[in-house]
Amino acid sequence: MRAVTVRPSTARSLEVREMPEPAPGAGELLVDGLAAGVCGTDKEIAAGEYGWAPPGEDRLVLGHESLGRVREAPSGSGFAAGDLVVGVVRRPDPRPCGACARGEFDMCRNGRYTERGIKERHGYASESWTVESDYAVRLDPGLETVGVLLEPTSVVAKAWEQVERVGGRAWFDPRRVLVTGAGPIGLLAALLGVQRGLDVHVLDRVTRGPKPDLVAGLGATYHSEDIAEVTSALRPDVVIEATGAGPVVIEAMAGTATYGVVCLTGVSPAGRRLSVDAGSINRDLVLENDVVVGSVNANLRHYRQGAEALAKADRAWLERMITRRVPLERAAEAFTEQDDDIKVVITLD
Ligand code: BGC
Repeated sequence: MRAVTVRPSTARSLEVREMPEPAPGAGELLVDGLAAGVCGTDKEIAAGEYGWAPPGEDRLVLGHESLGRVREAPSGSGFAAGDLVVGVVRRPDPRPCGACARGEFDMCRNGRYTERGIKERHGYASESWTVESDYAVRLDPGLETVGVLLEPTSVVAKAWEQVERVGGRAWFDPRRVLVTGAGPIGLLAALLGVQRGLDVHVLDRVTRGPKPDLVAGLGATYHSEDIAEVTSALRPDVVIEATGAGPVVIEAMAGTATYGVVCLTGVSPAGRRLSVDAGSINRDLVLENDVVVGSVNANLRHYRQGAEALAKADRAWLERMITRRVPLERAAEAFTEQDDDIKVVITLD
């Protein structure tokens, strides 16, 4: 069985390697891999900047954005051979904190959670893999070509839930949302905004390539001007920030309507300094009852919300989000950015 592996903390260690065939334990599914998506986190891991191998091993199998077809399922698991499934990324810490003990491992308080393909557990970028049936999510059979988008969709389903819960602390009737960044997270956040019936605007630097068309395809509005110009014209009720770029984050915080909610989803590198008018930002947040909330990962509820969102989305639009498919033996190519890439996936079958 071949898998995409790295030696964590070691740049240029990515290698497609032969690994032992996985053997399902009690309550586990045996799955034939179909595809694994590649995101910024995977690139960071491949660059040696993030990621941890399982204890006692020196290599980590990559892949937290998964899609596979069940080969064997234990009886009573609720799954059957042939089901299209995605594996959940995170597992609770071994001595669960209060959040993990309640199934909210996406909100882990002590940082001792583990993550498939990221932190101390092998991922799903392999020809076959196993997963506990409690951490597998079944997809509509029609999603075979795009179901690999479920993990990033679960991340934005959680972000939207955070926005709605934070907004729900008083009367909340948002109309206009600005999504910053038209990468996979931004585009999927825009999709979920449109599905909520909101007036969705997406901001990105590029003016050409597939992004403007994808945004238009949702019935949303594309912007590439300076963010301060965009926010002062739109005064969005909600901002979903998906660039992780410091200046964009700060302008998003400063540019909402009163009672605005900004949800930050982008993981930025540390060490980039910026001079900001902290007094003015603080003053606006206080006087407008604004909230800035960070959001990472997703629990089972968000995966189910994501699966529903994908099932009702336009399939052709979702397919256009996957701009490149790279076969397993050439997996390394998926980690080198090309013009017009949105979501790049490694095919495993
Ligand atoms: C993944 C999350 C994960 C986070 C931090 C992201 O790329 O989508 O599931 O929690 O990285 O490791």
